[in-house]
Amino acid sequence: MTSTRTSNGTGPKTSDDNPALRLSHVSRAFGPLAVLDDISLSVAPGEFVAIVGPSGSGKTTLLNLLSGWDKPTSGTITRRGRLRMVYQQDGLLPWLTVERNIALGLRDVPDRAARERELNAMLSLIGLAEFRRAYPHQLSGGMRQRVELARALAGDSDVLLMDEPFSALDYLTRLKMRRELARLLHERPRTVVLVTHDIEEACQLADRVLVLSSRPARIEQEIRLDVPRPRDPTHPAVVEAVENLLGALGLRASETAEAAPSLLPSGR
Ligand SMILES: Nc1ncnc2c1ncn2[C@@H]1O[C@H](COP(=O)(O)OP(=O)(O)OP(=O)(O)O)[C@@H](O)[C@H]1O
Ligand SMILES: [Mg+2]
Repeated sequence: MTSTRTSNGTGPKTSDDNPALRLSHVSRAFGPLAVLDDISLSVAPGEFVAIVGPSGSGKTTLLNLLSGWDKPTSGTITRRGRLRMVYQQDGLLPWLTVERNIALGLRDVPDRAARERELNAMLSLIGLAEFRRAYPHQLSGGMRQRVELARALAGDSDVLLMDEPFSALDYLTRLKMRRELARLLHERPRTVVLVTHDIEEACQLADRVLVLSSRPARIEQEIRLDVPRPRDPTHPAVVEAVENLLGALGLRASETAEAAPSLLPSGR
């Protein structure tokens, strides 16, 4: 694995002392299909880690292991705190309305008025106040994705695992949701692992971006951004990290098509 540091800051967070999440020599195979190969990773409390990599490389598999929903073939996983997951495919309960889906995230808030306030704030954040009584099948894919996000962000949790949470959104909504996520995390810090195909999104939001190889996936590259969040997508450290990642993926304009095998879908 190679590692790059972007910009000088207050120094890296230490993720090894009492991490929120830790994978130690984790491998996962489905029958003969080796998907993850000897992955070790520690995520510090409050740290934001983004994961990018080819389609089919094992990113969702990795999140499912982190969440405890799936078990590794070998290796160990430890996690601390309350955990929420934003799923790549519909994770909403189809028989509940928008507001009741979001309210699932507020079950731990004992005070009814506080629950209502938070629900309204979330509905307004995602711009779906008018659809509070709609059912998931009555929404577009992007609207459903926004409800998922609201449910995950509502109330208190310590760890957020997000699987391409902005992928179904149009470009402007995506920028807005990214900004809101960064703002909310600033107000209420949490540990985050975000899977995305969007390199700019990864570099704008994360403290660390990990690049997975194609299957069987290993951590091929790590880029650290030692600058405070929230940041603009045009922040020089973000631009430099995007440049570094494009280089790592063989996708700089000056590079040839043959130099970019790692972004080709590896098949599923
Ligand atoms: N439950 C399962 N049983 C068998 N194979 C599986 C299972 N889950 C995932 N796989 C296989 O593991 C590989 C990795 O899948 P995964 O969904 O983790 O990829 P991904 O990196 O999230 O891809 P994408 O970017 O397209 O979402 C694929 O080849 C997939 O077919
Ligand atoms: Mg996936």
